[in-house]
Amino acid sequence: MSLPPGFLDELRSRASISQVVGRKVMWDSRKSNQGKGDMWAPCPFHHEKTASFHVDDQKGYYYCFGCHAKGDALGFIKETENVSFMEAVEILAGEVGMPMPERDPQAQQKADRRTQLAEVMEQALQFFRLQLNTSAGADARAYLSGRALSQQALDRFEIGYAPDAWQGLWDHLTAKTVSEELILAAGLAKPSNKGKRPYDTFRNRIIFPIRDPQKRCIGFGGRAMDPNDQAKYLNSPETELFDKGRSLYNHGPAREASGKGQSLIVAEGYMDVIALAEAGFGASVAPLGTAITQTQLQLMWRISDEPIIALDGDTAGIRAAQRVMDLALPLLEAGKSLRFVVMPDGQDPDDLLRAGGPGAMQALLDAARPMVDLLWERATYGKNFDSPERKAALDKTLREQLKLIKDPSIRGHYGQAIKDKRWQLFRPKAVAKSARSFNAQTGYRPITPQASTRSSALANGSEPSHLLRHSVILASLLNCPQALPAVEGALEDLQFEKPLHRDLQQFLLQFSGAPELLWSEAEQFFGPPQLESLMQLPHVRIAPSVRNSADVSFVITCLRQEFAQIFALDAHGREVAEAVLDVSDVDDEGLTWRISESAKHLQATTQGAQEDNTEYKTAKNGLKVKLEEQNTLDDLLQQINYSKPNRP
Ligand code: UTP
Ligand code: MN
Repeated sequence: MSLPPGFLDELRSRASISQVVGRKVMWDSRKSNQGKGDMWAPCPFHHEKTASFHVDDQKGYYYCFGCHAKGDALGFIKETENVSFMEAVEILAGEVGMPMPERDPQAQQKADRRTQLAEVMEQALQFFRLQLNTSAGADARAYLSGRALSQQALDRFEIGYAPDAWQGLWDHLTAKTVSEELILAAGLAKPSNKGKRPYDTFRNRIIFPIRDPQKRCIGFGGRAMDPNDQAKYLNSPETELFDKGRSLYNHGPAREASGKGQSLIVAEGYMDVIALAEAGFGASVAPLGTAITQTQLQLMWRISDEPIIALDGDTAGIRAAQRVMDLALPLLEAGKSLRFVVMPDGQDPDDLLRAGGPGAMQALLDAARPMVDLLWERATYGKNFDSPERKAALDKTLREQLKLIKDPSIRGHYGQAIKDKRWQLFRPKAVAKSARSFNAQTGYRPITPQASTRSSALANGSEPSHLLRHSVILASLLNCPQALPAVEGALEDLQFEKPLHRDLQQFLLQFSGAPELLWSEAEQFFGPPQLESLMQLPHVRIAPSVRNSADVSFVITCLRQEFAQIFALDAHGREVAEAVLDVSDVDDEGLTWRISESAKHLQATTQGAQEDNTEYKTAKNGLKVKLEEQNTLDDLLQQINYSKPNRP
């Protein structure tokens, strides 16, 4: 609905903000000056004993000198009642006696129809409530008290009972001259296909009325009394009033409680919400017998920045939580997220509260885990990553899920969190252990006794050139951690061969402290002998990027060149390998072109890799390759020219 021009101004000038605010605070009479409309009170938005919350009635604004909360009368209603702007307008207009603007006739008609339906629902609700107190409801009453529901809880949630009869409600409503069409349209009865009278939707069921935030009864949930009933729960069908995917059980009261500072809890069932609310967790909602929808998530986020999903601790509950996660990933935006609590031992919140009381629930809520944990757990739980292929598969799975996050900043943070977890999982455990067994007297123990022999092999120059490059890159970064952010992406993509190199790669990628601290932390993990064995390699010692480690931009330039050379070699090697795979007489121009381009680039980036050139000539000699979709050299070069954070 749109408001006519001037409506809000008129509303603001008619309303007295001190009156609006006065209902929620205790004015400090000594500090306030009512005549001047200059009012002070302890702030309703943060905890305090002194009065630093100021209301200026003339200007129509409030401001808290403590927590800096500020706004006008509408803003105050929005914040304290936890309602939308339009609802705040309606509330304030009602208070100052300003009629809300007329709707257009069609909208008015629709609204009238919905009002009629809501009235029928209200009549049905009264019927169900009465039935619970008749002799027909004796079993239902016994059942409910068996589930420890007090009379107070029954009243609070308006619980009722639908008698075990085919036309109980039908007869009651038609006797009150409610039209048959309305009863059917409200979903309270179903037409009979045998030419008989329509029959009641709910029979022999405990009834849970569902109200929308405007307090209209829009549907019912019904729990079977008969354990052999086909459906344990039956909900109202979709009607003009009831859109299951856009409604939440206990929406209004939960919103109010959340506005007062309670955490919003999302449970699976009616009984969970009731048990939670009775135990003091008033900000609890549940979906209505269907899986949680995108709209419901948005509704929850309008109530709270970080709803806690507390689904049942059984397979179905965990699956449902994962569905919620997949639904939420693309919708995440700054400040809006979810937390998850998994109930122990297949319990639901209702069971847990009965077994452990509010304390048990609170402890679980306090330990609610962020979504990224669940994402990681789903990908890793019960799995084994003992091979490079399996690790790569894990990376791929996670990368694909992170790609779903649209907000680049959030995606970046998720990526970082995953990287940390990955490091925790794959970190060289033996290294950490030997670092812990450091003894001040004897110094660090090297991780592997062979380390020194290996390094002498390196020193002999018997190592392939790419391994020499790997050690230069790692040594340069250990010496000049400031260069890390610029080449992080390339560093992550590089396949190191030596275990020590791989460990150093992971160490560098996960390091998040101040650059000056990197070296000493590396010493703790790897031990000085290991690091020295790397730094003292002849080709490392003479590498320009190692010798000029104080010149960060120079180091970055050198490193980019190193990466470019390695990737060029890799790409070239791959093209050639593919080419020799599929030998044929037919000349393929595309292939020869690709190989020659690749070789040209190779020549440009390397000075002395002659052996590679001979391979290139062999390949060029009329070999054909199956051209698959893959990165071109240009892609590779581009990849190493930008740094990590923006990458999906
Ligand atoms: P549960 O079976 O977990 O319900 O279904 P519950 O709350 O633990 O029920 P009690 O404690 O046995 O009474 C959770 C929710 O799933 C929907 C209902 O909304 C229910 O509250 N549901 C369940 C259905 O819609 N139909 C069903 O047959 C079962
Ligand atoms: Mn349950």
